Amino acid sequence: MRLDSRGLPLTTSSAEAAGHLERAIESFNYWRVDVMDHLGAALAADPDFPFAHAFKGLFLVGGRSAKYADIIAESLNAAKAGIADVCPRERSYIEALEAAAAGRLMDAAQKYEAVLGEHPTDLLGHRFVQQEYFWMGHADNMRDVVERAAPAFEDDTPDYSLYLACRAFSNEEALNYQAAERFGRKALELDPGDPWAAHAMAHVLVMQGRVDEGVTLIEGLKDNWAGKNQIVHHLWWHLCLFLLERGEHERILEHYDAWIRNPESPLVQAVPDAYIDIQNCAALLLRLELRGVEVGPRWDAIADVAEGRIDDHASPFTDPHVAMILAAAGREERAQAVVASMLADAEGDEGPLGVAIRRAAAPCAQASIAHRRGEHDAVVTTLMAARHDFPHMGGSHAQRDIFYQMLVDSCLKSGRDGELATLIQEIKQIGFAQVEGRTLYSQAAERAN
Ligand SMILES: [Fe+2]
Repeated sequence: MRLDSRGLPLTTSSAEAAGHLERAIESFNYWRVDVMDHLGAALAADPDFPFAHAFKGLFLVGGRSAKYADIIAESLNAAKAGIADVCPRERSYIEALEAAAAGRLMDAAQKYEAVLGEHPTDLLGHRFVQQEYFWMGHADNMRDVVERAAPAFEDDTPDYSLYLACRAFSNEEALNYQAAERFGRKALELDPGDPWAAHAMAHVLVMQGRVDEGVTLIEGLKDNWAGKNQIVHHLWWHLCLFLLERGEHERILEHYDAWIRNPESPLVQAVPDAYIDIQNCAALLLRLELRGVEVGPRWDAIADVAEGRIDDHASPFTDPHVAMILAAAGREERAQAVVASMLADAEGDEGPLGVAIRRAAAPCAQASIAHRRGEHDAVVTTLMAARHDFPHMGGSHAQRDIFYQMLVDSCLKSGRDGELATLIQEIKQIGFAQVEGRTLYSQAAERAN
């Protein structure tokens, strides 16, 4: 047993392997692209390092793709081979991997909570638990787990800025905007290159309708993100949400081509079908179209990638985006295949993935196809019935808003003024300020009055 530089125990006889693993975890926590390089070096130095295998599996669980299932299973087996010798913290991570690999995501979250009960400053635990609660739509759990750890942190605790970024985002999703902004600004003061702190702040500002501040924030931070992973694409997506409100559509298309979906970018080339990229692309292109903007061949380009996820339901929130893309590209049969595959996959699954698909993601996918066909009554009927279940599929308030925008658009086009009044009220209750002043919603608010 050895202790890493943060005092956390590691079970390996190789100091070299322990050093590489620590760098891999640090890269993960700091949103860098080189996690697998360090992890590969750790496993080369100690091929039997249980925690390194567990971390590899958990890292790939975070990739939210069925294509990683075999490597995840191998990592789990390798980690379990050494479980008898590991310390309780490492055992909890291995058990979390076992739960996550089986789709028991709430059980995985409980394992991370157990780790944080013993080691409240373990940033890896904070990142993983936030990730799982976020993609299950449990904003209050996200906030509670991070707040419980607060007394353990001092200003000079290692990774304090990372903790503040997690604290900022979880408070934002729990609608505690003032606290979120305080933690987010402090995190950025300590580390202006932290993309998660920038992200938390972008969410606060978009929820509050502080459009110009949002543009200034992201434009002021964007040069600090060299070496960071796909989160950078999502931050450019957030910039575009603010630009949408200013009507700067040409600029958005330029950012889309250069920063959100640039096939020449090394990040896109490394993982062309990253789930967050698919979400960003679909949700931005549709937002543009809902505001009358022609997006040209962009749907078709991303549809070629979306085809690869038709039978991949590791990320329920991504599924309706895949259907949206395929329908928009004129590949309706393929879009329908996504829905059929989702429902088949979810059948009999009473766990969080099955529930997310049946109650939220599948209706959103069906509505996305109907919306493309101009069947607005069908969109309204489907989404009005499903909307209170949207959080089950995870994602942020700002991300899920695309399905409210689709619903409002269909209400506008099918003359459902009664529903518009309800929806405007509801969008405010979700946590959006200045709803009447926003693009698209302003029309709805006028019609609703
Ligand atoms: Fe976001």
